Amino acid sequence: MSRFANQTVLVTGGTGGQGASHVRALHAEGANVVIGATSAERGADLAAELGPRARFVRLDVSREESWAAAVAETEKAFGALTILVNNAGVQNPPALIESTDRATWARILDVNLTGTFLGIKAAAPALRRAGGGAIVNIGSTMGMGGTAFYAPYVASKWAVRGLTRTAALELGRDNIRVNAIHPGVIATPFITEPAAGSDTPIADFYSPEPFAVPRLGQPADITALLLFLTSPDAAFITGAEYVIDGGLLLGPALQNGSPS
Ligand SMILES: NC(=O)c1ccc[n+]([C@@H]2O[C@H](COP(=O)([O-])OP(=O)(O)OC[C@H]3O[C@@H](n4cnc5c(N)ncnc54)[C@H](OP(=O)(O)O)[C@@H]3O)[C@@H](O)[C@H]2O)c1
Repeated sequence: MSRFANQTVLVTGGTGGQGASHVRALHAEGANVVIGATSAERGADLAAELGPRARFVRLDVSREESWAAAVAETEKAFGALTILVNNAGVQNPPALIESTDRATWARILDVNLTGTFLGIKAAAPALRRAGGGAIVNIGSTMGMGGTAFYAPYVASKWAVRGLTRTAALELGRDNIRVNAIHPGVIATPFITEPAAGSDTPIADFYSPEPFAVPRLGQPADITALLLFLTSPDAAFITGAEYVIDGGLLLGPALQNGSPS
């Protein structure tokens, strides 16, 4: 299939559980893919495995100069940038607000929120040069409510929602669509590995049994929606938010049959 032939996609956090799934699927459907992340080895390995239509760029999303270099490298390698996936994200070690230090707050906001802002800012001129395109920001179901012990992460993902809507309004006339995906609990290192400074992985707090779809999400579940949102099938969709969580936010599912 070549739904994404002549498209060039930059995926931040493209080495991670969900990011690598997005990269592989977009590549398989014909896109040129640029993997942006800070860990060079994993990124270089993935790019080498995929071949000539793939590149790794060292990208720290919290640094503006890093973004400028990544977009320039993308245009140099493939001639244009048409799709940006702001997927990189970090979680805070679980802690009450009163026990959260300012440096932790700043680090999480820097990557998850400022990183998304800087990505839109750096990519918009390139997307415009390409005649239009799509941006997808990865939020979280944690950005739809409150979650004790995760204030920096929750706040960052709430803010990504407002940024998504505002960017959609600002870029619509340039044929650039901006949408957000809010995953539930997805089986990646993000939930199985503890955050820096913690020894408790998020997976310890979530059991999928009560979900309407009683399993953890898989990266492929998110990738399927991402491909739709970045494809021409979604040409009339912008500023929209998609929760994809197997029913997590609905509350506990019916457990034991019907009433007698
Ligand atoms: N898994 C879940 O249950 C879940 C639920 C809701 C939302 N999400 C969101 O989904 C997105 C992807 O997460 P995931 O589940 O795939 O987790 P993951 O496997 O931990 O991947 C996170 C990626 O972000 C990259 N990253 C971290 N800091 C970065 C920085 N400063 N600059 C560039 N890249 C950076 C990491 O690569 P390097 O370390 O190489 O930089 C890694 O590739 C995140 O935004 C996360 O918040 C995840």
